[in-house]
Amino acid sequence: MSWSKRVGRVLISEEQIQEKVRELGARLAQDYQGRDLLLVGVLKGAIMFMVDLARAIELPLSIDFMAISSYGQSTESSGVVRIIKDLDESIEGKHVLVVEDIVDTGLTLKYILENLLARGPASLRVCALLNKRKARKAEVKIDYVGFEIPDAFVIGYGLDWGELYRNLPHIAVLSDI
Ligand code: IMP
Ligand code: MG
Repeated sequence: MSWSKRVGRVLISEEQIQEKVRELGARLAQDYQGRDLLLVGVLKGAIMFMVDLARAIELPLSIDFMAISSYGQSTESSGVVRIIKDLDESIEGKHVLVVEDIVDTGLTLKYILENLLARGPASLRVCALLNKRKARKAEVKIDYVGFEIPDAFVIGYGLDWGELYRNLPHIAVLSDI
């Protein structure tokens, strides 16, 4: 796909993503059977994954979103994290699953988890589509991982570079030319 010179090689195809989403959805449906499940999507990166994953979990569930400050145009984490949009509902007593696009340094997720834990959920777990383990600065436990990826900047399927390329159906590497 050549929308732009910035869209580099395909790292994970649309088919691979959709197959993984089905697999995760089936696992989650088993693990959360009979429980009050709330999916918390982290805007904006997790939107594509969130809507596909929610439809792959055959259980009654709720969804909510929160937005966290990101790095703007830069491709590196500043470590500065701030809630821009909070959840609409209380999570007290609910089984919360945080849905993330990617865990890179882990700083964002660490902040989110500490913040949510203080609100008294019945349980708190994380499902991330992508894991860049090499880039980790803060230790965080990811309960459900889609794909382990190398330490490269990726775009597509929700992930952006300067707000662009979220609408690619696959995950590609950001090209530096
Ligand atoms: P962390 O705090 O460094 O773990 O970064 C978390 C957030 O940074 C993710 O939720 C993404 O929104 C963004 N991010 C990290 N790596 C990438 C990437 O390779 N492409 C696009 N966004 C990224
Ligand atoms: Mg994100």
